[in-house]
Amino acid sequence: MEKRFSLFFMVTLFLLQFIQLCGAAVDYIRPSARQLSFRAHNGSDSEPQQVHISLAGKDYMRVSWITTDKQVKSIVEYGKSPGIYESSATGESTSYKYFFYSSDEIHHVKIGPLDPSTTYYYRCGGAGSEFSFLTPPSTFPIEFAIVGDLGQTEWTKSTLDHVGAMDYDVFLLPGDLSYADTQQPLWDSFGRLVEPYASTRPWMVTEGNHEIEAFPIINYPRRFKAYNARWLMPYQESGSKSNLYYSFDVAGTHVIMLGSYTDFDSESDQYMWLQADLANVDRQKTPWVVVLLHAPWYNSNQAHKGEGESMRQAMEEVLYKARVDVVFAGHVHAYERFTRVFDNNADPCGPVYITIGDGGNREGLAMKFVNPSPSISVHREPSFGHGRLRMHNNTHAQWSWHRNNETDAVTADELWLESLSSSTLCNQVEMPSKSLKDEL
Ligand SMILES: *[C@@H]1O[C@H](CO)[C@@H](O)[C@H](O)[C@H]1NC(C)=O
Ligand SMILES: *[C@@H]1O[C@H](CO)[C@@H](O)[C@H](O)[C@H]1NC(C)=O
Ligand SMILES: *[C@@H]1O[C@H](CO)[C@@H](O)[C@H](O)[C@H]1NC(C)=O
Ligand SMILES: [Fe+2]
Repeated sequence: MEKRFSLFFMVTLFLLQFIQLCGAAVDYIRPSARQLSFRAHNGSDSEPQQVHISLAGKDYMRVSWITTDKQVKSIVEYGKSPGIYESSATGESTSYKYFFYSSDEIHHVKIGPLDPSTTYYYRCGGAGSEFSFLTPPSTFPIEFAIVGDLGQTEWTKSTLDHVGAMDYDVFLLPGDLSYADTQQPLWDSFGRLVEPYASTRPWMVTEGNHEIEAFPIINYPRRFKAYNARWLMPYQESGSKSNLYYSFDVAGTHVIMLGSYTDFDSESDQYMWLQADLANVDRQKTPWVVVLLHAPWYNSNQAHKGEGESMRQAMEEVLYKARVDVVFAGHVHAYERFTRVFDNNADPCGPVYITIGDGGNREGLAMKFVNPSPSISVHREPSFGHGRLRMHNNTHAQWSWHRNNETDAVTADELWLESLSSSTLCNQVEMPSKSLKDEL
């Protein structure tokens, strides 16, 4: 990090944390965060760095990377054998300024069409190291690795080790990536830390509060400036007007990424987009519908209590009527799983709600849960870890939560899910939820 900016960054960081503290409950303790793990770039200026990939519409992948050298072309060469690149595609590059910081050149190139379940070897910018990735399958089974509030500490490394130790197809992140918190070089460090994972499997992310990086009163810089430049997601491909919410289909699963930090009221673009997106879902093609967002709608931790409530009130019924199967959230640095819920009550046709904000960020764990535990909360625990959602077929999926346990990732919670699209009980659209409660 450049030293001349360090005082400036410390002051801005302090201000930002002060602002965050003012809005948060202060009566919980966050113990034993681990140290920041800063990664420097040790290659040449033209060497691609921070390589990551994301799904970009049916059979396409977006390759994103950064070069210090602004002359490097936005080109990706790729093929099915190492060192032999029979295809290539060009894209675009961008950069941004944040106070005195100027980002390096950020390249985004869409490649495809690609075959499913196939390893592709690729090279960025016409030179440098070879990378490879595996495309997701076109049919079941498919496995998602899911973890929120990742950060870049020694705990993050432990979580990523556990993620990498078992195979998976697509990585999902419900917000709070780098915890750069205005210190822009930390975005670069985060990009380097996750590259071994994010260059080999698609990483699909949505924004958390730590991605905002704007100052309320002076209203500068533009909100999500670094996030939007660096983590471009397939919003255009899914008919959304904003990188802050989008959706995609992969192997029988429709995944919707919502934005907790942009408008969500019934007049908003996001709300209208969500309605249109759900109306287009064909449950024959994608029997599973999964939603991710940052601030949980259901949460019995004292941390961030009630912060997702206005979004829940605005959007819960839309998800319920569409028979969404699972809703994942982050933000609270702990694990919590609820039963199927609608409007604060157990409901067999509501989504299962899971908080998975336990990736390992510098703020530590949210230790204090509200007592007694609400009856709809099934499993809650303040430990770092990650989740796995494995869709076996049209009707059955398996959820598991893996606690970081030094050398092994211990499976600490497990659940079989049956898709709501295959439920005769829930397929009668006008079924009044209240009359079902007795049957639970
Ligand atoms: C550069 O960093 C990578 C990853 O940390 C490491 O494997 C490699 O040995 C480093 N190369 C040099 C020349 O330091
Ligand atoms: C779906 O997968 C589950 C779990 O593996 C299995 O029990 C069930 O028989 C499968 N259903 C079909 C239709 O294959
Ligand atoms: C790891 O898991 C084992 C077995 O479940 C348990 O005995 C041990 O206390 C755990 N260690 C940590 C650090 O959580
Ligand atoms: Fe958060």
